[in-house]
Amino acid sequence: MKFVKENENVERYVDNIFSVVRAAKADPKGINATAGCLYNEEGKLFTYRSVYDQEKQITPIQRASYASSPAGNDAYIEAITRFVLEDKVDNHHRTMATPGGTGAIFAAMRMCLDEGDTVLYPEISWGNYKVMAAEMNLKTMTYDIYDLNDLFSKLDMFPSKVFLIVNSPCENPLGHSYSLKEWEQIKEKLVSLNKEVILLCDIAYIDYAHDDPKGFFTLFNDIPDDLLVLIAASASKAFSYYGQRIGALIAIHNDAGYLDHFINLSSRLARATWSNLSNAAMLNITEVLNNHGEEYLNELSQAKKMLKKRTDLFIRQAEECGLKLYRFSDGFFVTMEMDNNEVRDAFHQKLIDHHIYTIKVNRGIRVGLCSLPLKTVDGLAKKIKELM
Ligand SMILES: Cc1ncc(COP(=O)(O)O)c(C=O)c1O
Repeated sequence: MKFVKENENVERYVDNIFSVVRAAKADPKGINATAGCLYNEEGKLFTYRSVYDQEKQITPIQRASYASSPAGNDAYIEAITRFVLEDKVDNHHRTMATPGGTGAIFAAMRMCLDEGDTVLYPEISWGNYKVMAAEMNLKTMTYDIYDLNDLFSKLDMFPSKVFLIVNSPCENPLGHSYSLKEWEQIKEKLVSLNKEVILLCDIAYIDYAHDDPKGFFTLFNDIPDDLLVLIAASASKAFSYYGQRIGALIAIHNDAGYLDHFINLSSRLARATWSNLSNAAMLNITEVLNNHGEEYLNELSQAKKMLKKRTDLFIRQAEECGLKLYRFSDGFFVTMEMDNNEVRDAFHQKLIDHHIYTIKVNRGIRVGLCSLPLKTVDGLAKKIKELM
């Protein structure tokens, strides 16, 4: 008996993250570096006062109501677009609201790729790209994010339509961010392909990056007609709104008429999958952005400082004790370099045996500094190195 459709991907789905998260939570002595969420210095999930105070004003009727359209409430679309793009993009663009960054990436893949097409994403990356590709029966190809020549040679292998995911800044799990110069090279390469190219920029963690992280958006003001730029934004990270499931997919292209068509397709996709999103969540984020923006940005700035203290300390202490990490720029995570996945598995288990809970990634172990208070980060690199 099969019941499911003929070409369903029936490979067993194992969620490695949630099992170790459960074990970490059950261990009273555990150092829980598994989370992909920001925690405060008291070890609790970080919440923005400007976001959650506002939420209390939302009425039961507003909560109970359906949102106004599958593509999202107009006011939310306007506010989130302005927040994400700031004043960087004057090329044509249109936005749909999505269930988180995940929904944006899913919608992009679903709308642009047919079964059997290939998606190109970083070799060490967020595991969900692979899960989504498998779910849609897509082929996958990966590139080394530290080596643009590797990316460029992979791009050359595409006979026709290219679908490239770039997760920068603050790549999950490596914490790598491309410089503006690297972005210029990437754009130049994409333009030189003379093929239909979809560039999906996953900017889930951009609000926690330093040094003009949105500067590269200006490159999308001058693009050829065969390049469609899609920006997948997540309210989960930006507003500590993980469970509320909202985000946005912003499409940038030279032709406003084409974007009309694209948004029409995306509205149908939304209607046929999640139907529409939480009305309350969209109302709340709209209110925060339109009327409490300054308060929110002040809190965000504090949150960024808190995170940076942790990553600076861990990296300095890792250098002092010789713990090898992948090159880091910004973000929630650092990743220990492990060339061999069998050694990685054994070491990951050893860490668990010593109450240190982390996440296995391809050729590495991710340490979620986002979830550890500074006092727990202090000395952790040495502790890990000693167990090695
Ligand atoms: C790299 C990356 N992209 C996108 C997302 C999407 O997050 P959400 O769907 O909660 O917005 C995540 C979440 O962990 C992520 O790590």
